[in-house]
Amino acid sequence: MKTVILINPYLEKESEFYQPRRLKRELEALGVICDVLPNAWLGSIEGGEIAETLTRNYDFCVYLDKDKYTPRMLEKHGMRLFNSAAAVEVCDDKMLTHIALAGHGVPMPKTVPAPLCYKEGANTGEFRAEIPFPIVVKQCYGSFGEQVYLARDEAELGSLRGELKMRPHLFQEFIAESAGRDVRAVCIGGKVVAAMQRKSERDFRSNIGLGGMGEPYALDDEGRALCEKAANVLGLDYCGIDLLFGKEGFLVAEVNSNAFFGEIERVTGVNVARLYAEYLAESCKK
Ligand SMILES: Nc1ncnc2c1ncn2[C@@H]1O[C@H](COP(=O)(O)OP(=O)(O)O)[C@@H](O)[C@H]1O
Ligand SMILES: [Mg+2]
Repeated sequence: MKTVILINPYLEKESEFYQPRRLKRELEALGVICDVLPNAWLGSIEGGEIAETLTRNYDFCVYLDKDKYTPRMLEKHGMRLFNSAAAVEVCDDKMLTHIALAGHGVPMPKTVPAPLCYKEGANTGEFRAEIPFPIVVKQCYGSFGEQVYLARDEAELGSLRGELKMRPHLFQEFIAESAGRDVRAVCIGGKVVAAMQRKSERDFRSNIGLGGMGEPYALDDEGRALCEKAANVLGLDYCGIDLLFGKEGFLVAEVNSNAFFGEIERVTGVNVARLYAEYLAESCKK
């Protein structure tokens, strides 16, 4: 059994290689041969067919990137990916994630997709989302809280709408009770294995990269059931789910198909890499 771990080809910092290295070590400890490769130049369309060589050399792929084309090519050639191409695509796009979860009894903040514009000079038109200020504005594709904004009034909303009009984005109800804090839970094989609370003193976004600090958090049964439902609806082998503290309970803010596990391992002491490796080795025997 041979595995390939695919990572983003633009990684540079030592800390960014922590995740693939840990997974490789844990997989090898279980007797699974494992290579780590950058997700670049791995396939093409030639003569009307997919040309790629990974499926010849590897039995399965742990996909730690978000790019959607390579996974589609590999799956078309029969490779089993963790996570699947469809699951990665839905999680990569925050609006698609909310749409996919809707109708499954998963509480989420009110969320409205923005109309997309194709001309630089065009007027952004009237805002008719009916969400009270302050309004959370998110680019549909974004990470580390960096593409998440708060519009406190019409002027701020207008300037964000102008700036983002040519990029997919959404408007969302601001969950005031959760300002500066949320819960990050990691699910493996549809089960919560670790949870932490993230708190920020200086920003409504509690992402670690923006100064949020993780602390252990005993997620209750309601929170666990919610995360497990979301992971199962989206068909995720592995994910990190962000929960907001709403007035009447937890709300799902987003689901990450390739969530980093370094901080949650440090905070909780749970060996996420080993648990994921065990799940991968077990799933691949089937
Ligand atoms: N609707 C919301 N109300 C209040 N805070 C929010 C809301 N949505 C997101 N946040 C905060 O912003 C952070 C980043 O948002 P998120 O959707 O998780 O984007 P990213 O992919 O960049 O992490 C969340 O961890 C949470 O702290
Ligand atoms: Mg997040």
